[in-house]
Amino acid sequence: MSESLGIAVIGAGAIGRTHIETLAGMPGLHLSAIVDPMPAARTLAESLDVPCLPQIGDLLEFGLARAAIVATPNETHLPVSAALLRAGLPVLLEKPVAESLSSALKLIAVADETGVPLLVGHHRRHNPIIRTARRAIAEGCIGDLVMATVTCSLAKPNSYFEAAWRRSPGAGGPLLINLVHEIDLLRHFFGEIAHVQATASHDRRGFAVEDTAAVTVSFARGGLATLCISDAAVGPWAWDLSAGENPARFPAHPVTPHLYCGSTAGLSLPDLALWQPPGAPDWTVPLQPHRLEVTPGDPYRAQLEHFADLIHHGGTPLVSVRDATANLMVLDAIVRAAESGQRVAVDLSPLGHET
Ligand SMILES: NC(=O)c1ccc[n+]([C@@H]2O[C@H](COP(=O)([O-])OP(=O)(O)OC[C@H]3O[C@@H](n4cnc5c(N)ncnc54)[C@H](O)[C@@H]3O)[C@@H](O)[C@H]2O)c1
Repeated sequence: MSESLGIAVIGAGAIGRTHIETLAGMPGLHLSAIVDPMPAARTLAESLDVPCLPQIGDLLEFGLARAAIVATPNETHLPVSAALLRAGLPVLLEKPVAESLSSALKLIAVADETGVPLLVGHHRRHNPIIRTARRAIAEGCIGDLVMATVTCSLAKPNSYFEAAWRRSPGAGGPLLINLVHEIDLLRHFFGEIAHVQATASHDRRGFAVEDTAAVTVSFARGGLATLCISDAAVGPWAWDLSAGENPARFPAHPVTPHLYCGSTAGLSLPDLALWQPPGAPDWTVPLQPHRLEVTPGDPYRAQLEHFADLIHHGGTPLVSVRDATANLMVLDAIVRAAESGQRVAVDLSPLGHET
């Protein structure tokens, strides 16, 4: 048996606590420290009997962890992760990879220079539902993608916005916080996005960042998708509110916010219903649905298992820093499209090579 791996959680806020709870049930891993300056973090650390440090300098000085999960606000992702990687600690970094493209590109340089494992926390890719859908789509279950529709109605309580970063451009807003997950999934299933168009509004909440956006994307391989997102709109039609990934935080409604329509069949998620015609496609003939089989699993746990595997055995992260930066490049194009009203091409060339 190898020694249990001590993991520090940097930032014990909403998602940091999910990681702490997940770690508690995992063999071979344990929480070795919390780094967070807030009093609530100290109280939590005391209840768990682990050290609590106000900053990562102390963690590194005292050698209190073999690896770290970074769950701090977006604008701190680069400085915190770079310091950890330079100290030789593998990092699981929450999404989005950074608050800006320039920060993400700097983080790529640090990851390349140090060679220390860096996994970005697009946790949905570890969900068995997503793994099953990706395999089926790659095997041609819907033919070629023709169109997709993704809805994210995420009416957040006012208290959510007490943290100032969630109201700030470049850090908060549902595009960067939430739509980045949807973009990641669409790229994971259907390949790179070539062009985007978008309209954004902040009329409901009146913050400097958007609260609502409507986006269309076209894929390099062909096919179009629309995505509608709002943190002020009520409805169950969102992955977070239907997939049951985080039952302690979110209800799981029986709806399908992701609809993928191909040249031969349609697929909805998260229910994995595949709608096929009995013969050649004909809108007058009833389609026959059947569910793709899946064994449910906790994606946060699977993500940590993958992180541990990377630390012990090396290999390629399921979500690399380049891959996550490509998501940011799409988002950057969406923001520019919303500002200009123009169709904007997604430029992945700064990544240097394929994601
Ligand atoms: N993958 C997911 O499902 C998911 C869900 C929610 C949030 N996130 C991401 O996780 C990150 C955190 O989001 P959140 O909603 O948990 O935020 P939060 O505001 O609830 O928590 C952030 C915590 O980080 C602490 N902190 C701030 N700067 C720090 C620093 N330099 N060092 C140590 N601690 C510091 C704060 O005191 C706070 O406790 C964001 O990047 C967000 O996009 C991911």
